[in-house]
Amino acid sequence: MSFPTDRPRRLRSSPAMRRLVAETHVQPSQLVLPMFVAEGRTEVRAISSMPGVVQHTRDSARRAYAEAVELGLGGVMLFGLPERKDAQGSGALDPDGILNVALADARAEVGDDLLVMADLCLDEFTDHGHCGVLDDRGRVDNDTTLGLYAQMGVVQAESGAHVVAPSGMMDGQVGVIRAALDEAGHDETVILAYAAKYASAFYGPFREAVDSSLQGDRKTYQQDPANGREAIREVLLDIEEGADMVMVKPALSYLDLIADVRAAVDVPVAAYNISGELAMVEAAAANGWIDRERAIDEIIVSIRRAGADVVLTYWATEVATRLRAQ
Ligand code: PBG
Repeated sequence: MSFPTDRPRRLRSSPAMRRLVAETHVQPSQLVLPMFVAEGRTEVRAISSMPGVVQHTRDSARRAYAEAVELGLGGVMLFGLPERKDAQGSGALDPDGILNVALADARAEVGDDLLVMADLCLDEFTDHGHCGVLDDRGRVDNDTTLGLYAQMGVVQAESGAHVVAPSGMMDGQVGVIRAALDEAGHDETVILAYAAKYASAFYGPFREAVDSSLQGDRKTYQQDPANGREAIREVLLDIEEGADMVMVKPALSYLDLIADVRAAVDVPVAAYNISGELAMVEAAAANGWIDRERAIDEIIVSIRRAGADVVLTYWATEVATRLRAQ
């Protein structure tokens, strides 16, 4: 009988040994918490398809910003839910619009102790639910939308965002936002580009989270899940246009692209662990089919192992709390 000479199991023999040789670590500072802040509300509202995630009031959001500082999170990514929507998404440009006042609240609460990030997209603010404005034939009009994004970026920076995150997948969006920010004196504002963003079924629960009015889909601007090389093209274009960091979204069906992007660029890479990825785990756990906490920790470490420096996750607070207890 012959015995193995190479025994990888030796390095798995105890918790202390496994801890010593772990290749990937998750730190609270690498986690960003996406948050929804609703206009004109006095009560927090649950999102049924995203157990544990809520539509915040401005007040409840303030407490969450403070908690994020306390836990040492990397940042918060804010989404605004306006009371009224219109075809132009004008609430996005209004300094008194919900996203902009929430950014100001966050900045007043945390100063520079936590990064305040703004989703830069019109879809929460348009009555048709698209990420850009429509032309007279009902198509998303790329170049008209760019002008609105440029203004939105400046308003967000003026409201207090350290980081603006264009997520609408319009061609040229990063370049126009960078130019507008610089022209308005916001050369320190960072752009985190949702560079490789796919038209994904896994955004389903997010649509409930933001009371989306979208009819149809986003397949003419978000990427086809069949295409990987195209992600690299998108990422390189965004960096050329001035992106400081790039994001791959969703995360779990696109771990290969997180790795490819990490290898292709030298800027920080983020990945967004999105609503549908949360919903699947929460639903399975609620049925007793999966160990919820282990599944969450495995997902986050896997996204990091694939190459993401930064992970956006609705579980950021929970994971950071767990890490602190270790
Ligand atoms: C667009 C945007 C979306 C998400 C973040 N920003 C939705 C979409 O593109 O349809 C999805 C986030 C999630 O599903 O958790 N502003």
